[in-house]
Amino acid sequence: MTPEGSLLAAEGLHKSYGATPALDGVEFSIHPGEVVAVMGPSGSGKSTLLHCLAGIISPDAGTVRYGPHTLTGLSDAQRSALRRTDFGFVFQFGQLVPELTALENVALPLRLNGAKRKEAERQAREWLERLEVESVHDRRPGEISGGQGQRIAVARALVTRPRVVFADEPTGALDSLNGERVLNLLTDAARESNAAVVLVTHEARVAAYSDREIVVRDGKVKDMPAGLI
Ligand SMILES: Nc1ncnc2c1ncn2[C@@H]1O[C@H](COP(=O)(O)OP(=O)(O)OP(=O)(O)O)[C@@H](O)[C@H]1O
Ligand SMILES: [Mg+2]
Repeated sequence: MTPEGSLLAAEGLHKSYGATPALDGVEFSIHPGEVVAVMGPSGSGKSTLLHCLAGIISPDAGTVRYGPHTLTGLSDAQRSALRRTDFGFVFQFGQLVPELTALENVALPLRLNGAKRKEAERQAREWLERLEVESVHDRRPGEISGGQGQRIAVARALVTRPRVVFADEPTGALDSLNGERVLNLLTDAARESNAAVVLVTHEARVAAYSDREIVVRDGKVKDMPAGLI
């Protein structure tokens, strides 16, 4: 396990793009089932941190541990295998596959993990119901609203019952009412499955959804003093 019973922990993360330091000595850890909100100005390194934690990019220095694994020591193939089974992702614009229906989009991660079509679609349907978008199950992403698309993206991120959900501004493209609704559904569903959530967000009322808030500034992580949000 990672330090102090945490599920995912990063130590001394550094990452530069040319002369630009994106991460400059980051420490981070999250416990099973914990929801951590990551705030901070544009360009401060939030997405870079999330991508390093998820093993999508490799830091120049530092380690990321996930349970018994040292992510930063695994091969690309090992990291992508782990991502498919243990991690879920939601991005600002759902990034659903445009040719597939909502149901097929949600079933896709299960299919990629080897599930039979009927079983994958049965589970996908349950998640569409949970996220209150069952009524658009047979529509393609071009035929639904932004809020519905993000709910479908949340269903797709959770359908494999991941241990960690990484969400990078999942409500950035929604109005505040829809944004709150999606954040509620995302964090409730994650809590029910005891999945940890690393949530990059600009939502003002994020403290209502998260257990802890951190701020990234100039590639460094600071704890948010209580009561400042
Ligand atoms: N692929 C890349 N190539 C070059 N520079 C990059 C790349 N990705 C990020 N950067 C730079 O690294 C720094 C941190 O970027 P990052 O995307 O992590 O910021 P962010 O906090 O997510 O910002 P935003 O709120 O706008 O999404 C920025 O200066 C950015 O320009
Ligand atoms: Mg970003």
